[in-house]
Amino acid sequence: MKFFFIAFLTLFAGHVALAQPTATTTAPLTARLGQVGLTVALAPGGRLTYAVQYGPKTVVNPSRLGLELAGSPGFEGALELVGSELTSTDETWQPVWGEVKTIRNHYQQLTVHLRQPQAPGRLLDVVFRVFADGVGFRYEFPRQPNLAYFVVQRELTEFNLPANHKAFWIPGDYDSNEYAYTTSRLSEVDTTPIEPIQQKAAPTRVQTPLMLKSDDGLYINIHEAALVNYPAMMLSVDTKTFGLTAQLVPSATGAAAYLQAPEHTPWRTLVVSDKAPDVLASKLILNLNEPSKIKDTSWIKPQKFVGVWWEMHVNRATWNYADTSNIKLAGTDWNALKPNGRHGANTANVKRYIDFAAKHSLASVLVEGWNVGWEDWANNWKEEVFDFVTPYPDFDVAGLQSYAAGKGVQLMMHHETSASVTNYERRQDEAYRFMKAHNYDALKTGYVGRIIPRGEHHDGQWMVNHYVRTAQQTAAHHIMVDMHESVRPTGLHRTYPNWMANEAARGNEFNAWSTGNPPEHETILPFTRLMGGPMDYTPGIFQIKLEPWNPAANKGRQVHTTLAKQLALYVTMYSPLQMAADLPEAYEQHPDAFQFIKDVPVDWDDTRIVAAEPGDYLTIARQAKGRDEWYVGSISDENARRQDVRLDFLTPGRRYEATIYADGKDASWDQNPMAYQIRKLKVTSKSTLKLQLAAGGGAAVSIKPLK
Ligand code: NOJ
Ligand code: CA
Repeated sequence: MKFFFIAFLTLFAGHVALAQPTATTTAPLTARLGQVGLTVALAPGGRLTYAVQYGPKTVVNPSRLGLELAGSPGFEGALELVGSELTSTDETWQPVWGEVKTIRNHYQQLTVHLRQPQAPGRLLDVVFRVFADGVGFRYEFPRQPNLAYFVVQRELTEFNLPANHKAFWIPGDYDSNEYAYTTSRLSEVDTTPIEPIQQKAAPTRVQTPLMLKSDDGLYINIHEAALVNYPAMMLSVDTKTFGLTAQLVPSATGAAAYLQAPEHTPWRTLVVSDKAPDVLASKLILNLNEPSKIKDTSWIKPQKFVGVWWEMHVNRATWNYADTSNIKLAGTDWNALKPNGRHGANTANVKRYIDFAAKHSLASVLVEGWNVGWEDWANNWKEEVFDFVTPYPDFDVAGLQSYAAGKGVQLMMHHETSASVTNYERRQDEAYRFMKAHNYDALKTGYVGRIIPRGEHHDGQWMVNHYVRTAQQTAAHHIMVDMHESVRPTGLHRTYPNWMANEAARGNEFNAWSTGNPPEHETILPFTRLMGGPMDYTPGIFQIKLEPWNPAANKGRQVHTTLAKQLALYVTMYSPLQMAADLPEAYEQHPDAFQFIKDVPVDWDDTRIVAAEPGDYLTIARQAKGRDEWYVGSISDENARRQDVRLDFLTPGRRYEATIYADGKDASWDQNPMAYQIRKLKVTSKSTLKLQLAAGGGAAVSIKPLK
């Protein structure tokens, strides 16, 4: 009977899911789970609004929803309520890899069916999911006669905040997220003084994930989930009313999104709690993504890697083979070029890294600068930069393939596209075949510079689709991928678990060649960028002061943490791909500290956020996958502080040995960053660790059962 009813409506109204029509209803619709309450209403003028409460506190005051389409009318107003449904879901699922073994997905879903009665009469559904730790909602465009191909000009979604919250923000640059965070009140958001990396942002436009803290003690994170076939959402801040409005990254034509029904937007997400650790523990964004589309995931392996990489960033080697410019990809005789003598990706040097990885049981070696084109790769906005299959004359692909195999080490390939994405798309399939033919099963991509197709942005719909296609295409070749300079993640690693990490924020590398990252940076990233997914932050720099690598070029440059804090980042900055980013010779000088990097897992059964405050400190304990071993990472901003960690997560009655890698007594990130001390303690579930963190410092702890 129900089936017949639905089929009937599909035929005559083109609308697949309906309850009883209630066209005249204006009473608000509500949904609630735990402390989180949602109210949806049609305001005068047929504008749809929503509001969110956390217990008695207001998270979002009534805020507008809607979309402006090219060729009116869209869904900006004059809407009629056709019907609504409330359903409930409570299930659990297991990620292929991650921070916890099992994830609960528990929500109330309110679906609101709307109609735009003005000719030609279009249908829109808005689906809300209310979780115990926040709300997600998205727009859905059902299959219908009067809306097939359409263009979204503007999304009208608002987040009207009730007060002048503290915000952790970066400017709303359509092409880069590589900024340090500013902490200010919403009324003070102004991106003008910030040095733009790619493109000047409107002064009050900021990016998501946006982290907010209210004076009445709420922690609120605004982002999106499952960003596919749609531009990224930025937020424009009204510094007087504290209202935020969605700003979609425009395409080259100026319009936001080109869609065909049936289709839907990504989910807009609000994670909220009165405890900061709950925000970091939230699985709301992952839950709003589709389950894995990859059936056999046995080839996807979380891993640690080293790389011919930092030595280029610290000016000890070059990506390029020759010091020639104005090179054409086709027609250049690479063998005839005069080598500059500083090329990092040469066979002997790569072997050195393979030996190091083999000796210390690290899975793989990333090699950047192996392929021709680096002489001329940046800032030219030219299309033919790299072909991804031609090695430099001093990089022996076949020889290194067998050398690595003989040592049980994998090589990881690098594809810098120079943002010439049309060029990359033409060559991707051949490049991936080349990789597999030479036994590479993991790939790091990069999109430095201005996008080709010209006029597109890194975070627009065209590029969003490119990243997703790349995840799909690499999956088809059984390749794991880590994308740099991509759009920031939105939980799609659940759907494509081979898409293991992204950069999409200001990584450790900025410490090598810029003013660097302030000591608080790593306490903010988990509340912002990492809400969407793992980050390839490239932790593990031991040689904190960089002058020794190249005194002239690195004068005054340093990483803005202590050495112990670099260790702690392996726990606090979750990624299933973790680089041991420093040079082998740096690690060889500190084998006792390097032991932590060797031991620390990249895949976990459990995670406890012990203490957290964005911008100040963060302590996380995690249990290794399949083992009764725990690892603790604790980090501080520019202030020294004490952090107590109760070990009540350990198995009661069992005795363990804790190895504590702590800052030295007189350590600090700027004066004495490399001073550390290692001590061992016998502990049980009743013990409390007392960790002393230096200014800009941290502590890392491994806890293993005693036999
Ligand atoms: C920027 C990336 O983030 C970095 O890791 C890489 O080494 C350079 N681009 C060169 O591709
Ligand atoms: Ca601080």
